[in-house]
Amino acid sequence: MKLCALGIETSCDETAVAVVEADDHGCRLIGEALATRPEEHALLGGIVPELTVRQHLELLPKITAQARGKCGRSSFHVVGATAGPGLAPALLVGLAFGKALAWAEKVPFHAINHLEGHLFSPFVSCGKWPEYPHLALIVSGGHTLLVDAVSPSERRIVGTTRDDAAGEAFDKLARMVGLGYPGGPEIENEAKGGEVGIYSLPRPMKGAPGCDFSFSGLKNAARLLLEKNPDIARSGSARSNFCAEVQAAISESLVDRCRNALEQTDRRLLTVSGGVSANQGITRALEELARRSGAKLLTAGAGWNTDNASMIAAVTARRALDGVASDWDTDADPRWSVAG
Ligand code: KG4
Ligand code: ZN
Repeated sequence: MKLCALGIETSCDETAVAVVEADDHGCRLIGEALATRPEEHALLGGIVPELTVRQHLELLPKITAQARGKCGRSSFHVVGATAGPGLAPALLVGLAFGKALAWAEKVPFHAINHLEGHLFSPFVSCGKWPEYPHLALIVSGGHTLLVDAVSPSERRIVGTTRDDAAGEAFDKLARMVGLGYPGGPEIENEAKGGEVGIYSLPRPMKGAPGCDFSFSGLKNAARLLLEKNPDIARSGSARSNFCAEVQAAISESLVDRCRNALEQTDRRLLTVSGGVSANQGITRALEELARRSGAKLLTAGAGWNTDNASMIAAVTARRALDGVASDWDTDADPRWSVAG
């Protein structure tokens, strides 16, 4: 049986709605709309929770109408909305909107874990359902996690960050050298003309046992370097060399942690999702690691790696196909774990 699922994502500053068509063989995106206003947050120095609430309230009805219009379908079989983890006030808006929409359309409702969406995205971006077991790296502005996905219902966290997330490190380091928000794409772009090794920054946790991450040491080392060399933030080529070094430091750290996790879990399939996985230097380095480890790397394609509603619609569809009961009572949970 083919079913149509509408997903809503409001865990941070993106307001996103998507519709997928799915059956037991796979899942296909048929309509999507997304709005984000990073410049408004950038003016205030970062994501402002109150501002996200106003944006979601204003944009959700329009974005939903757009997504429905694009897929050319007036009805759907099920609705899902992100219930966590994320910013509590932002989650509440999307969750209440999703429940109200499902109620009005007389269809079931599912509260979805945002990180489960990221776990799905590398697979559903190429139309497939997740394969198990696999090892998943989630690298975004809010999370840096290594998850051993044993089966659809058994997930173990094998590595997490002790301080900042990888995307957060990109954002903070970009800001230190006068680049805009979000910092990851800005650093990647600037790094293209730069050379690794002109400046020396640490590779956080490289060689340490286990699979945890830490980026605060890198941030402090970068701050000291910039204090000693104020020209870096001003000159084009010095800034490019700095950005190339930052990207190499984060990339080598991620690769080292993934290597340990692949050895520890003995998995043969590594997936990567989350905004940082849009970075081509990082995905190339992970590709190389997978090749050397006899594993396969699956990345979420463009439009699926950063926050999106397609992944939420996909998890919703899977749940409906599996006959999971509606869950109207689930509240927003800003710290909802992906382990289960
Ligand atoms: O997954 P995402 O859209 O939202 C969160 O759940 O956080 O990730 C956003 C993060 C930001 O920190 C941004 O700087 C980072 O992903 N990012 C990148 C790139 N594109 C986005 N980091 C490195 N290189 C990129 N090309
Ligand atoms: Zn995310």
